[in-house]
Amino acid sequence: MRGRKHEMTEQTPVNQTAAKPVPTLPDAQTVTAVEHYTDRLFRFRVTRPASLRFRSGEFVMIGLMGDPHPETGRVKPIMRAYSIASPSWDEELEFYSIKVPDGPLTSRLQHIGVGDEIILRPKPVGTLVHDALLPGKRLYFFATGTGFAPFASLLREPETYENYDEVIITHTCRDVDELTYGRELIEGLKSDEMMVELLGAENLDKIRYYPTTTREESPKMGRITTLIEDGTLFTDLGIPALDPATDRAMVCGSLGLNTDLKAILEGFGLEEGANSEPKHYVVEKAFVG
Ligand code: A2P
Repeated sequence: MRGRKHEMTEQTPVNQTAAKPVPTLPDAQTVTAVEHYTDRLFRFRVTRPASLRFRSGEFVMIGLMGDPHPETGRVKPIMRAYSIASPSWDEELEFYSIKVPDGPLTSRLQHIGVGDEIILRPKPVGTLVHDALLPGKRLYFFATGTGFAPFASLLREPETYENYDEVIITHTCRDVDELTYGRELIEGLKSDEMMVELLGAENLDKIRYYPTTTREESPKMGRITTLIEDGTLFTDLGIPALDPATDRAMVCGSLGLNTDLKAILEGFGLEEGANSEPKHYVVEKAFVG
């Protein structure tokens, strides 16, 4: 990408008046920060299109240009859906991504650096939004792996705290290192003066963080599905089991997690909501590849 940009700059007439570099991609946004957590996980931030409005919890399509077709030489964009991990009020956009070694997009995306461009289609959509839930007492965010991303957005959204007495965020990963992004984000909320002022110290006290691992030893082990079914989650938090009268849930993880958790929530009597018909829980899959 850097090479392409350089070529274009050299071909640009020297008397051109525009001071800004000419974007080389359609819907281009510029990378402003990259942080790698493990060999499987990283986050990055990009500029936000001035026209982009979204609700915290929604996703957009992002991507990069693929290799030229061997015969025609044509290049096509490789696009994937990514939850926006930053809140709706942030001036930049943040994304939290897996790195799949042979994934068509993430095998390339993991190499982006500050100043590079990505493609971002400014059409946000999604079901993990407050509008899809009825009012309640407790809000559960259930995440596995990079499924934490939409909750990184919602945890920084004032509306999340206005609507509920408790905000419970569970995050299950294979290994301890994979919890870092979420743990640092939650710790950061309480230590960052700007966030405390924006969200309110008493609101931040509503957060109950429940991290678990399934493969590496940690203080709390097990799949969240098991910990709900055997009651451990509720005993650990000192709260009653899920109840449609009081509890709301948002789910984001692998396809297996989503399917299994959906069945469990339905078993407790919770019904799936939508933007057009708010109910007790909503589900979105974590997009990878
Ligand atoms: P496990 O290690 O038992 O497969 P991944 O990194 O593959 O996306 O998985 C993230 C986390 O989600 C892992 O801890 C994994 O547990 C857990 N997980 C995967 N599938 C399910 C499921 N169907 N129900 C509950 N947890 C799941």
